[in-house]
Amino acid sequence: MNYTEAKALVEQYGQEHLLRFWDELNESEREGLLSQIAAVDWSLLSLIHDQSAITAERGHLEPLGALEIPEIEARRAEFEACGIEALKAEKVGAVLLAGGQGTRLGLDKPKGMLDVGVTRPLYLFERLIQNIMDVVDRTGAWIPLYVMTSQKNNDDTVNFFREHNYFGYSEDYIRFFIQEMVPSVDYDGKILMEGKAQLSMSPNGNGGWFLSLAKAGYLDELKARGVEWLTVFSVDNVLQRINDPCYVGATILSGCDCGAKVVRKAAPDERVGVLCLEDGRPSIVEYYEMTEEMLTSRKENGDLSYNFGVILNYMFRLSTLEDNMNKNMQVHIVEKKIPYIDGNGDLQKPEAPNGYKFETLVLDMVHMMKDCLSYEIDRHYEFAPIKNREGVDSLVSARELLRENGVEL
Ligand code: UTP
Repeated sequence: MNYTEAKALVEQYGQEHLLRFWDELNESEREGLLSQIAAVDWSLLSLIHDQSAITAERGHLEPLGALEIPEIEARRAEFEACGIEALKAEKVGAVLLAGGQGTRLGLDKPKGMLDVGVTRPLYLFERLIQNIMDVVDRTGAWIPLYVMTSQKNNDDTVNFFREHNYFGYSEDYIRFFIQEMVPSVDYDGKILMEGKAQLSMSPNGNGGWFLSLAKAGYLDELKARGVEWLTVFSVDNVLQRINDPCYVGATILSGCDCGAKVVRKAAPDERVGVLCLEDGRPSIVEYYEMTEEMLTSRKENGDLSYNFGVILNYMFRLSTLEDNMNKNMQVHIVEKKIPYIDGNGDLQKPEAPNGYKFETLVLDMVHMMKDCLSYEIDRHYEFAPIKNREGVDSLVSARELLRENGVEL
C-alpha cells in the first residue's frame, strides 16, 4: 500500500488522524505505518455503533446441572482408569492461554512471569508447569502443551521459559504460538495511536486461540500425534488441576463434545459466568446478564438453579473444534484503559477507561458445542485466580489459598 492509497482508506473510514505525524516519520516508520493501516479489519470499528454487538440478544436460558462432587467421588476409579488410558496414549493436549495483558494487575511483563513466592521465587508459569507435571508423573506420558502468547509478550515469554529450562518440562512437548492483534479505539471509534507511527493494537481476546493455533501450523502436528482432545486453561489460576485423569475420563465417558470445570457459587450474586443451556445448547451467561429471578431461583433441595460458575478450564473434542473453526464468533466490545499519544505526540497513560478493545471469548466456543459435561470441582483446592491488585482474586488471596493447600511459599 502506498501513501495515496492509505490516505484514501483512512478518509473513507474517518481515521485521517492516523497519518497526522506522517511528515515527521522516517522511511522505515512510514513503511511500518502503511502496513499497519493495510492490515486493519475496518469492519470491527463499526461495531461500536451497533448496540446489538454490545449486548447480544440471548436465546431461551435454562439451568444446567453438574456432575457433582459426591457422584464424581463414587465413580472416581472408573473415570481415572479411562483418563489415564487416554493420557498415556497422548490423546489429550493442553493449551495455555497466556496472550492477555493483565491490565487489572498493571504488570509490564507477561502475567505468567509474576512471582507468587515469598521466601523463594515461584513464578505463575512455573506453578502451572508443576501442576501439569503431577499428571505427567502419574501417567508417565508427556502432555503436548501449546502456549498462546501475543506479539506484545511473545519474546519475553519464550525467553523466560528458555532461561528456566522450561521448568523441567520436555522441550519436545512444548510449543509457542502468537495470537492475532486488533486495533483499540476511543469512544468515538477513532483508532488510538501508541506512537507517531504505531497504531494501538491489542490481543484479540482468548476466543481466537484455535484459529491462531491452526494458522501457526500446529493442527497437523496435533493430528500426527494422535491428539483427540484439547484442554484450554488460563494463566492465572495457581491452583488449577490441568488434565487430571478423573476430569479427562469423566469428559470422555460423558460422550459430550466438551467438559467444563465449574465451581458451586459462593453467593447468588457472585460475579462469575454461569454454565447453563441456551436454546438447548450449553452456554455461559455472565452475572450481569442474569435477571434477579435467575440469580435467586432455587431448586427443591434449596440449591440455586443457576449454581455453577466457570473457571476457564475447558476440554474440547478436537474434531468438533475443527468443524466450527471458520464460524464467526461474537465480538465483545470491552472498555479498557488504553495508553495513547495525544495531538502533540505525547504518550498519555489514562487512570480511567478511555476506549474500547475488541475481543472474542473462549466461553463463546462452549455454545458451539452440542453438549458439555459440567464437572464440579472444589474451589478451595482448584480455584485461586490472580486478577486484581488487591482484595478478591488477588495475589494476596491466591497466596492464602496456596498455603492452605500446603504449597510452601
Ligand atoms: P482475562 O480475561 O482475565 O484477561 O484472561 P487478562 O488479559 O489476563 O487480564 P485483564 O482483564 O486485562 O486484567 C483470561 C485468560 O485468557 C488469556 C489471559 O492471558 C488469561 O489466561 N487471554 C486473554 C489471552 O490469551 N488473550 C487475550 O487476548 C486475552
